[in-house]
Amino acid sequence: MNKTIIKVNQLKKTYALTKTNQVQALRGIDMEVREGDFTAIVGPSGCGKSTLLHMLGLLDTPDEGALQIDGIDTSKMKEHEAHMIRAHKIGFVFQGFNLIPSLTALENVMLAGKYGGMKYGERKKRAEELLKSMGLSDRINHRPNEMSGGQQQRVALARALMNNPSIILADEPTGELDSNTSLEIINTLKKLNQERNQTFVIVTHNNDVANACKAILHMKDGRNA
Ligand SMILES: Nc1ncnc2c1ncn2[C@@H]1O[C@H](COP(=O)(O)OP(=O)(O)OP(=O)(O)O)[C@@H](O)[C@H]1O
Ligand SMILES: [Mg+2]
Repeated sequence: MNKTIIKVNQLKKTYALTKTNQVQALRGIDMEVREGDFTAIVGPSGCGKSTLLHMLGLLDTPDEGALQIDGIDTSKMKEHEAHMIRAHKIGFVFQGFNLIPSLTALENVMLAGKYGGMKYGERKKRAEELLKSMGLSDRINHRPNEMSGGQQQRVALARALMNNPSIILADEPTGELDSNTSLEIINTLKKLNQERNQTFVIVTHNNDVANACKAILHMKDGRNA
């Protein structure tokens, strides 16, 4: 059996808007992901899927509970260690894409390679290849506002894959795409999953996408459902 790469134990997170207005986004969630898994997180809007994914990506910290990435207890991690993991080990696709508006598709993808320490020629070649694999060869010089939602989403995916991370966390990576394109993208990701043993955790509302994943984590009200 493959080794455990993500382990979540009774994770809790409360957002305090004011002293009296608090949202318990995660109320004690458990999850285990093994290397090479392809897992979907599903559940109703507001149940805490993005919150959980942000914790897994070390973009936010839990209030209670334990999170281990590759056997390392993240609560004991120093900031530079967390930074190394974010830059090299994890590729993140945000629900709202988070592309840089002033940069072209190619430049957005290349920037991730710069953070990952790749040389200019190497990152240009790799970014072009990734955009091509996402069906975007004819959009590489377009800026985000010159692309459709689905095209921006695929640029965000290419960016997440740039440094060849061992874990890819994607928040609704096909949310803006029609069913056929969604399944095409999922198949591209599954191919990477098989060929490179990359681990995927994907938030989705789409049943076809969830069913195409090897495992499904159901969430409701910040807990396992
Ligand atoms: N930064 C924040 N401050 C306050 N409340 C927040 C914050 N982020 C999320 N929440 C709240 O926490 C709950 C969980 O939000 P989250 O974004 O994780 O849901 P989700 O399952 O991803 O929903 P969706 O499917 O709509 O994307 C929601 O009630 C949301 O309003
Ligand atoms: Mg969300």
